[in-house]
Amino acid sequence: MAGLIPQAFIDDLLGRLDIVDVVGSRLSLRRSGDNYLARCPFHDEKTPSFSVTRSKQFYHCFGCGAHGSAIRFMMDYEHLDFPEAVEVLAASLGLDVPREQGAERQAESNRELFTVLEDCVQVYRRALRDYPAAVAYLKERGLSGEIARDFALGYAPEGWETLRDALGTDDQTSLFSAGMLIRNKQGGYYDRFRDRIMFPIRDTRGRAIGFGGRALGEATPKYLNSPESPVFHKRREVYGLYEARQANASRQPLVVVEGYMDVIALHQHGLPNAVATLGTAVTGDQLKRLFRETHELIFCFDGDAAGRRAAWRALESALPLLEDGREARFALIPEGEDPDALVRREGADAFRHRLAQSPPAAEFLLDELKQQTDASTIGGRARLGELARPLIAQLPEGLYAELLTDRLAQEIGGNRSNVRSALRQTADTRRAPRRAPDADSGKPPQRMTPLRLVIALLLNEPRLEPHLSLPDELMQSEAPGLPLLRSLLQYIRSIEGPTAGVLMHRLESHPELPVLVKLANWQPAVSLDRAQLEELFHDAVQSLQRDLYRRCSESLLALAEQRELTDAEKQKLNEVIKKSK
Ligand code: UTP
Ligand code: MN
Repeated sequence: MAGLIPQAFIDDLLGRLDIVDVVGSRLSLRRSGDNYLARCPFHDEKTPSFSVTRSKQFYHCFGCGAHGSAIRFMMDYEHLDFPEAVEVLAASLGLDVPREQGAERQAESNRELFTVLEDCVQVYRRALRDYPAAVAYLKERGLSGEIARDFALGYAPEGWETLRDALGTDDQTSLFSAGMLIRNKQGGYYDRFRDRIMFPIRDTRGRAIGFGGRALGEATPKYLNSPESPVFHKRREVYGLYEARQANASRQPLVVVEGYMDVIALHQHGLPNAVATLGTAVTGDQLKRLFRETHELIFCFDGDAAGRRAAWRALESALPLLEDGREARFALIPEGEDPDALVRREGADAFRHRLAQSPPAAEFLLDELKQQTDASTIGGRARLGELARPLIAQLPEGLYAELLTDRLAQEIGGNRSNVRSALRQTADTRRAPRRAPDADSGKPPQRMTPLRLVIALLLNEPRLEPHLSLPDELMQSEAPGLPLLRSLLQYIRSIEGPTAGVLMHRLESHPELPVLVKLANWQPAVSLDRAQLEELFHDAVQSLQRDLYRRCSESLLALAEQRELTDAEKQKLNEVIKKSK
């Protein structure tokens, strides 16, 4: 941690932030004339007297007098010191925080990284010309010479010291910091990317910041990506955005696809408004960035289980950003296809037509939930409400929230206003617990992850415990929340014929009581009988299992970016990817 943050940066940051977003992503805000109102998080109150004003970029509580800017809010609400609050807010906009002393040095060393990365782009491009097999691979995949040039595609040859031979040894430390080299046990370096087609990842100014490398054959992993570096943050960057801007296409609806090859194929076929994430699920940061370019995103993921899951996760990340005037749509790709294959097969016009027909977020959400439930039974409708509730809670106040709530009320049937209020009731609050810490009140509702749902159900009905079947390797995992789940199971198993009441009493001394209390207050949107409860629990356990395997695969892929995987690890990777689907 270095010197002072320049005042000019702080001013700039405050100029770019919208305090309504900053507060609104943490408290639930209600519009009232020119202001937004919430229950004050800094004192206990029943009626909202905490007001946020967009024009003044300022909040003020008429009850307790708390007031300030977005930065002050973050400091008090998230318990951060000033530089931390600035860091968090800057990161939300994809900005790096400069420092007064040392800022120069940082900029200098980043410049060095940009330079060596550009050198690598050129080395790989030259190598591509010298390796007919690599060119043949690209041709076979249907890429034109122009598109390979526009995307600066290259080839990293098989050797271990290509970069050193091409660039000399002077740059080794920069190459290493830029993620292009791996250090061996003897302190020497070798090339990270070998025998791979190289896709430079560029920032919006066109500077190479990292690479994706695709194996020509069946090597694992299929794609290897640069690790995080001072200039490469994969959860913030978007592949193809620079190229989309170059083609003046970034103000059109942006088409978000999964793969490098999808982006490139779409560009080549006259759809230069395609972009991709970098091998991770879509993040909120990426979506915010894209929504700064355009008002409409069309997610267009592969026609397989992974693609459908990715679409669902994209929906979850997009919901909090769907203010009035923005739209997210979900193009459905036929089973077994991806955008790359599809645009080649059916041509650009048919593909455009497909995009134009794609259902908006509300419709997609409802369709997906309806597929998971049987709306002809009470239990099915109850589950529909259950699944929808946390999603609706994510939406900002506005047309979308209204529309969805009404559509759901229709689907679920019964008394409209009851359904509406049940849907809006969220995982926390209600029956305010005696010992809930004050710091928790006013926090936004937690997303109901499968793990939380499993815990919540167990707290409500401890006799579901025997139905919890997870493979041992997962049960022993140290994934967040699992230690809590294990300890809860111990408590339950120590009680003869456990009931929720006895369990809660025993848990009074549990170190994580506040979390448990919060989850214990969760209730299904519609009352469920025992069989429906078991069904819900079973589904939650299944989702949890997939989640855990997905975490496993993600951490192995991350490891693959740090070092070569062993054969056992590669086998494991293939296994867990399969099980996570
Ligand atoms: P896909 O497996 O869908 O790749 O992964 P693809 O686009 O169809 O690739 P081709 O057509 O076989 O060449 C989609 C994206 O996920 C990331 C990459 O960013 C890829 O473009 N990925 C995939 C990895 O990072 N590592 C992998 O091992 C696989
Ligand atoms: Mn593909």
